[in-house]
Amino acid sequence: MGKVSEITVGLRSSIQEVIRETEISNKMNDVNKVAVVTGGSAGLGFLIAQALLRQDYFVVIVGRSEERLREAARQLEAGSVKGVAFQVADVTVSSDAKLVFDEVLKNQGRLDVLVNCVGQSDRGQIATLTVDRLNELINQNVVSAMLCCQSAIELLEKSGGVIVNIGSLAAKVSPRFLGGYAIAKHALAAMTGQMRLELRPKGIHVGLVNPGPIRRSDAGSRYDNQLDASLPDQAKKPGAGARISGLDPQRVVNQVLRMIRKRKPDILIPGYLRYLIAAGQATPRFGDWLLMKFTSGK
Ligand SMILES: NC(=O)c1ccc[n+]([C@@H]2O[C@H](COP(=O)([O-])OP(=O)(O)OC[C@H]3O[C@@H](n4cnc5c(N)ncnc54)[C@H](OP(=O)(O)O)[C@@H]3O)[C@@H](O)[C@H]2O)c1
Repeated sequence: MGKVSEITVGLRSSIQEVIRETEISNKMNDVNKVAVVTGGSAGLGFLIAQALLRQDYFVVIVGRSEERLREAARQLEAGSVKGVAFQVADVTVSSDAKLVFDEVLKNQGRLDVLVNCVGQSDRGQIATLTVDRLNELINQNVVSAMLCCQSAIELLEKSGGVIVNIGSLAAKVSPRFLGGYAIAKHALAAMTGQMRLELRPKGIHVGLVNPGPIRRSDAGSRYDNQLDASLPDQAKKPGAGARISGLDPQRVVNQVLRMIRKRKPDILIPGYLRYLIAAGQATPRFGDWLLMKFTSGK
């Protein structure tokens, strides 16, 4: 008899536990998930913000120009069920980056996803790259992401959240005529890899999405004022004239969502380049040959 009553008590407490877990999980599903997208007022960041809204996230977009943010938030809000907020901040400045997440804590109370999309490309040769320009590119592409990650850790630890840093094909290879861009994106890749290991015990996932050149209406003219006589005309093209077709931006956005969903560490778009890059790294002379062949030059 004693044994039967022990089993009954055990069964009852197991059932109570299942009920408690179901209640917690229902509560979690009810909670509004919150995402911050830096650089969400334009380009790829805007499209990522739009996609996260469609995935039922409450989205906070961040940028320096209030006017641009206000207009982007208006457009995003038009098609969304969940809300959009914006925060004016220059995320290369530590106090600004901190403010973004202090405001999220105060207003939304939680954070599930951080997408660091602020970044800037470049045109030029290393022979003429100035220290000021390199510092600017490092600030835009690396320091911005580092400061936001640091300020978001406490919130993301509570949700077991995800950080997506937006890298580039230039985080994997160093083609000609990209000025200081490949240096900066390689540094971002290094930071992302180290952070992934260091934040794993806190339950935070950190990944890097690396797109090749993305199709956009101003693609052929964005770098007009950075071109000097030492550069071939092709260098003004997307990817500084890399012979690779421009990516559909939605394809990149889908990979960002895939990284969040599956906690992928590193995604390259287009994916087939991973094998060429690995072959080039294993055999550097072959890697150089590939880059010379598939980029334009005099
Ligand atoms: N476009 C491509 O072909 C391509 C290819 C591969 C990778 N990527 C990467 O994708 C990301 C987005 O590129 P994109 O070309 O789509 O960008 P974009 O159109 O130039 O937009 C940049 C966004 O970042 C904001 N921003 C810039 N500096 C900021 C700062 N210091 N603090 C806060 N916000 C800032 C801008 O708003 P404000 O100016 O108002 O601040 C804007 O919302 C970058 O990391 C880029 O390296 C782009």
